[in-house]
Amino acid sequence: MLKLAAQSTVLTLLWGCAGSAATNIVPLHLDAGFWYGDFVVGPQNFSLAVDTGSFAVIIGEGKYKPNPTSKQTNQGEFIQFNGASEDGVQMATETFFFVEDDAEFAGVALSDFLVGNITDGDPLGGDGIMGFSPPASMITDPNDPTFLAGQSLAQAICDQEGISPCEFGLTLKTDGTGSLIFGPIDETQIKGDITTLQSQPVDAWIPLNQTEADSAILVIDGKPVTHIIPIFDNGTPNIIGPLDVVRSALLSVGYNLSEQTDSDGISTVFGTYDCSRPPARFGFSFPPSTVVHYIDEGANVLNKTADGKICTANILGTSTATAPNWQIGQTWFQGRYVQHNLNASTIAFADLV
Ligand SMILES: *[C@@H]1O[C@H](CO)[C@@H](O)[C@H](O)[C@H]1NC(C)=O
Ligand SMILES: *[C@@H]1O[C@H](CO)[C@@H](O)[C@H](O)[C@H]1NC(C)=O
Ligand SMILES: *[C@@H]1O[C@H](CO)[C@@H](O)[C@H](O)[C@H]1NC(C)=O
Ligand SMILES: *[C@@H]1O[C@H](CO)[C@@H](O)[C@H](O)[C@H]1NC(C)=O
Ligand SMILES: *[C@@H]1O[C@H](CO)[C@@H](O)[C@H](O)[C@H]1NC(C)=O
Ligand SMILES: *[C@@H]1O[C@H](CO)[C@@H](O)[C@H](O)[C@H]1NC(C)=O
Repeated sequence: MLKLAAQSTVLTLLWGCAGSAATNIVPLHLDAGFWYGDFVVGPQNFSLAVDTGSFAVIIGEGKYKPNPTSKQTNQGEFIQFNGASEDGVQMATETFFFVEDDAEFAGVALSDFLVGNITDGDPLGGDGIMGFSPPASMITDPNDPTFLAGQSLAQAICDQEGISPCEFGLTLKTDGTGSLIFGPIDETQIKGDITTLQSQPVDAWIPLNQTEADSAILVIDGKPVTHIIPIFDNGTPNIIGPLDVVRSALLSVGYNLSEQTDSDGISTVFGTYDCSRPPARFGFSFPPSTVVHYIDEGANVLNKTADGKICTANILGTSTATAPNWQIGQTWFQGRYVQHNLNASTIAFADLV
């Protein structure tokens, strides 16, 4: 299914004209941990969360109305998301069926784009999600003709606009405004060195490592803590790691632990600290470089008590995360230009000016 769609869009490209760079920039804004942009399908205009951690475009239950250009497929999927609330604790499960429809994104018209129509699901922020992960490793299932993982919105835009290599950047600022920019890194928006990491080509933006020693490192206040496998995912609201590692990391910087176990047996831990002390700084380094890329200090605070005295750090430890996997969510993206290359399977980043 995806191969057919890719072929027909390549054909359109031969006769279409390449869009000007200015039309391929999408303004984004932060709301309760998620970054939203406009996505138009048929006559409807939706505000969807940009999510580099998932693949498909899906619209919240009951929101996507049929129109003369929409065609049902009877193919779809069931997905479970973690990190579905601002503090990262909530999970969301969604069942959806794809509809082929005329869509518009980044000033580009896409015909017969696969849009997921959620028919049964937990509430999501905004009107739904638009996925920007690398392609799903399983797009269709030979044993299940009803299974379909969807279509890459980024690849569809690149094909239509002749953007090759196919790449896009996220520039998420610390003031809650940002952009999704198709094409190469806009060098006028960055300062300092660009770090480029080879990533796995499917499913998620996860840097590859040959040995443990060359894998990413969690660093707290300048001290390397442990080697990890990071998943770069701007659609996760904060930094999420395994329960035990986060618990000991929070204790090591003198934070109090705030632990909970819900009715499904999922345990989580947060750290609280006196807002008047200098907060601990959490960051990551990527060997062989020893440079530490810290989370912006402002994004490091989840909330404060009404009297402004007790702060909760914006890092979640959960029993659903398995070491050495960590999710590097949008708080780390803030203040950076993060570039995603679907052709070369690289993720690159630099500080915003
Ligand atoms: C979608 O809605 C937003 C907010 O109301 C508006 O700014 C934007 O122009 C609309 N886009 C389209 C294509 O209708
Ligand atoms: C989406 O699914 C609902 C049923 O849950 C259906 O009423 C609606 O027509 C569907 N939308 C489209 C565009 O097919
Ligand atoms: C990127 O990948 C597409 C599709 O696989 C291919 O057609 C194109 O030539 C590639 N571009 C570059 C610069 O590698
Ligand atoms: C990659 O790094 C992780 C985390 O350090 C480690 O657990 C894993 O064994 C490494 N993979 C290889 C192939 O060495
Ligand atoms: C940390 O726990 C201690 C002992 O229970 C308590 O006195 C202190 O107020 C707590 N501080 C914060 C910031 O939660
Ligand atoms: C801060 O967030 C944590 C995690 O969601 C929550 O348990 C706590 O009650 C919140 N505190 C305040 C003061 O809102």
